[in-house]
Amino acid sequence: MALGGGMTPPFARPGGAAVTSPSSLEQELEKAARIIHASAYTIALVGAGISVESGVPPFRGPGGLWTKHGEPPMDGYQRFLADPRAWWADILSRQGEHSEFIKALSEAKPNAAHQAMADLEKLGFLKHIITQNIDNLHQEAGSVAITEIHGNRLKLRCIACNTRWPLGEFATDEIPPRCPHCQGIIKTDTVMFGEPIPLDALESCQRESRLCDCMLLVGTSAVVYPAAEFPVIAFRRGAKLIEINPMETPLSDVSAAVLRAPAGEIMPNLVERLKELSGAGAG
Ligand code: APR
Repeated sequence: MALGGGMTPPFARPGGAAVTSPSSLEQELEKAARIIHASAYTIALVGAGISVESGVPPFRGPGGLWTKHGEPPMDGYQRFLADPRAWWADILSRQGEHSEFIKALSEAKPNAAHQAMADLEKLGFLKHIITQNIDNLHQEAGSVAITEIHGNRLKLRCIACNTRWPLGEFATDEIPPRCPHCQGIIKTDTVMFGEPIPLDALESCQRESRLCDCMLLVGTSAVVYPAAEFPVIAFRRGAKLIEINPMETPLSDVSAAVLRAPAGEIMPNLVERLKELSGAGAG
């Protein structure tokens, strides 16, 4: 199975962990719980799949936005830089017009998987979440230690100093709005196609990937870089990968446990099993 751009994983292990029967899902759940319980520093890499049960479509695979509409042009950021004033005028003029994706995002609520991740953090089992999602659902579920590698739909960011503000904190009578600290241009925090990942977010992701001894891969196809690099960094440093995804990905073969199920259905079971293992469930 090729990882984005035709590369085959340099660490593939033959005879991967294809999981089908319910009993083996039970066995994989037990394996996953014991790995996390024994882990000193578990983090998670999260993708669009975790929000599917909140009504937000994924990008690839069945029902994916790109599957349905094709991938968008990759030069969104270059077009923004070419005329930020026109870009702002355009989005302000189209306020209230919501694409299928934006409408789904604005109506979405955290689901049982987001809640389970917040619980794992509170129980001390999950140290950090790297999310590729812009939907703010982890925060709404109560998670705290989060790096949003693709930004957050409810924030603005200065492209020069990376300072961020809640949406609506800036008057847009002067467009493009300017950063009060460095006079840099302000845009939405979400990372556009063609835009470099903000350095502070990238460094945080790389740091967490180097620190972890276990990485949960929740609802990501693991084909988009640089996010797809983080499991490679972790794996090469001896970390165990645990995949939570109803479909196979390029990382299934090298995952120590594979929960082949929707995250919202299986993750609450993982929390319960970990509570039992740590006696937290014993009240
Ligand atoms: N629970 C868990 N996983 C799920 C669920 C579910 N209920 N439903 C679907 N999935 C899985 C799919 O099988 C797929 O592997 O989620 C994955 C979603 O993959 P993508 O749509 O490719 O999303 P993602 O990996 O987040 O994409 C990365 O690509 O287009 C860019 O910026 C966009 O952040 C996005 C990035």
